Amino acid sequence: MEKLLINGGKPLKGEVMISGAKNAAVAIIPATLLVNGVCRIENVPDISDVDSIVKMITSLGAKVEREGINTLIIDSTQLKTYVADPELAVKMRASYYLMGALVGRFKNAHVPPPGGCNFGVRPIDQHLKAFKYLNCSVTTDDDFVKIDGSSLSGGNVYFDVVSVGATINAILAAVLAPGRTVLESAAKEPHVVDLANFLNSMGAQIKGAGTDVIKITGVPSLKGGTYSIIPDQIEAGTYMFAAAATRGDVVVKNVIPKHLEAITAKFLEMGLGVDEGDEEVRIYAKGPLTAINIKTMPYPGFPTDLQPQAVIMLATVNGTSIVTEGVWESRFQYVEQLAKMYDKISVDGKRAIIKGGAPLVPAKVTATDLRAGASMVIAALACNGTTEVDGLRHIDRGYEHIVEKFAALGADIQRVDD
Ligand code: EPZ
Repeated sequence: MEKLLINGGKPLKGEVMISGAKNAAVAIIPATLLVNGVCRIENVPDISDVDSIVKMITSLGAKVEREGINTLIIDSTQLKTYVADPELAVKMRASYYLMGALVGRFKNAHVPPPGGCNFGVRPIDQHLKAFKYLNCSVTTDDDFVKIDGSSLSGGNVYFDVVSVGATINAILAAVLAPGRTVLESAAKEPHVVDLANFLNSMGAQIKGAGTDVIKITGVPSLKGGTYSIIPDQIEAGTYMFAAAATRGDVVVKNVIPKHLEAITAKFLEMGLGVDEGDEEVRIYAKGPLTAINIKTMPYPGFPTDLQPQAVIMLATVNGTSIVTEGVWESRFQYVEQLAKMYDKISVDGKRAIIKGGAPLVPAKVTATDLRAGASMVIAALACNGTTEVDGLRHIDRGYEHIVEKFAALGADIQRVDD
């Protein structure tokens, strides 16, 4: 089993290039199933979630070639089935995008319930509701969600919860559906906008992505073309928190600073230096920091996918900070693991109370999910002594070349086999 050995306690310094966005890639790759032509997708992150979704579409008959590390050439014109492979689907959450993509393409989809990180209950009722309002009939059995889209057509969908996945699934199902679809209370995350931009560049008619009302006019077909995925907001935020936790000076490059405003606002509130350029943000320590409170919310709020990284960073700041989880029912399980390094974080329902400023202690910790894993790496980078982080399969799902990127910032980090 592989693990990271991190000898921390040194400020990170230098520049880091941010990769393409995982959560855009895992939506855009299945969206190519709707395209009648060849798609060239650039800036695809080299991560295992991308490998998993590529395997899934390949098993449906798509032809996928890699050009270098970060470009995929996808030809889905010869798809042979609308039944997704159950063994592949349980490995990741984004397998649920095959529902929208296959029903859009074949007017039929059989897709197993999705896997992914465990944050308590992760329902898909809003996805299924959207399919029903687009005039599909949905049945579920032990193995599959079965969507019959023989009457698929545009409709009005009012989401009860702001859901990234349900918004994206509804867009995927609606782009080729005859008539007009209106999605109300839609998610506004950058990857929702990126998916809509990708589909529009292939001929779809989607308006309003990035607002809470998205309007789609169905088109008969989509053509192939080239598209480049946006930079990863969460990967960028992770390096920003690592820079802050080690009191370093890091320029995070290839980002869209607008996507990072909820994070930079909190850094300014804490007393960190933040310089924004056109496509980069510099984070640097310039004096003592103050404890703050954070609440995670859907975009443009503070992202839940940076909550664990924020919690451990605040452990390094004198005073009491409170972080409230406003998206997931249960996203603090990792605190138990983190307690091996810092035991002054208590969880009260959806709140973590962090009594910051005591030293972190090196330990052997296990990444329990993707972003929890990132928080453990940050803890190790901020801690004097050698920490071991295992459970790397979670981290590899979403961080491209994490060892090389942190090493280039001066971190003493190695990946070793036990
Ligand atoms: C996406 O998950 C991301 N995953 C998650 O990132 C991220 O945490 C989440 O959005 C919120 O930003 C991908 O994009 C692949 P949601 P998703 O549907 O779409 C409730 C990471 O670390 N809900 O927006 O599954 C749900 O329980 C991952 O990269 C319903 O009630 O999240 C939650 O409380 C982890 N019914 C809230 O909505 C539904 O049908 C938001 O979930 C769907 C969701």
